[in-house]
Amino acid sequence: MSKTIDINIKVSVFDSVEELDKQLNNLCLKAEQVVDNAYAPYSQFYVGAAILLENSEIITGTNQENAAYPSGTCAERTAIFYASSKFPGVKIIAIAVAAKSKSAVFKITKPVTPCGACRQVIAEYEQKQNSPITLLMKGQDKTVYQCQSIRDLLPLMFNQ
Ligand code: THU
Repeated sequence: MSKTIDINIKVSVFDSVEELDKQLNNLCLKAEQVVDNAYAPYSQFYVGAAILLENSEIITGTNQENAAYPSGTCAERTAIFYASSKFPGVKIIAIAVAAKSKSAVFKITKPVTPCGACRQVIAEYEQKQNSPITLLMKGQDKTVYQCQSIRDLLPLMFNQ
C-alpha cells in the first residue's frame, strides 16, 4: 500500500526591496545594476545575479546567450561558477536574481525564479558548504520573493 507525503515549501513575499535588511537590499540592487550587461539578443530576457560571500565579496553575473542556443548560460550559473572559481571554498550566504524584458511584447510580471538546471547547481554548492543559501528573486515590478534555502525550490533534489 502506498502512502502520500506532503512536501511544503516556504516563500516570503516582500512588497519592495526596501523591506529587506540592508545587506540583502544591497544585493538585490547589485543584481538589478548588472542586468543590462546580459547578452540576450535571442530572448530579449535580461537577467542579473549577485552573490554575497562569507568574506563580504559580492560576485555578479548575467545570462550569456549564443546562436547555438544550449551553449548559452543563465545569470545564476555565470555568477556561481565565477564565485567558486575566484573564491573556492568561501561560503555563499545569498544569491539575488533580477530580470528585465526588452521585448516589445513580453513583460515580466512575476519575480524570476531560477530554472531547474540552476536550482540543481545552487543545491550542490549548498550541500558542499553545509549551510543554507538565501535566495532573493525579483522581476520588473517591485515584488521580491525570498527563500531561506534552495531546498525550498528543489525538494527531492538529485543526489549521487
Ligand atoms: N535565464 C536566466 O539567466 N536565469 C533564470 O533564472 C531564467 C532564465 C536566462 C536564460 C536565457 O538567456 C533567457 O533567460 C531566457 O530564458
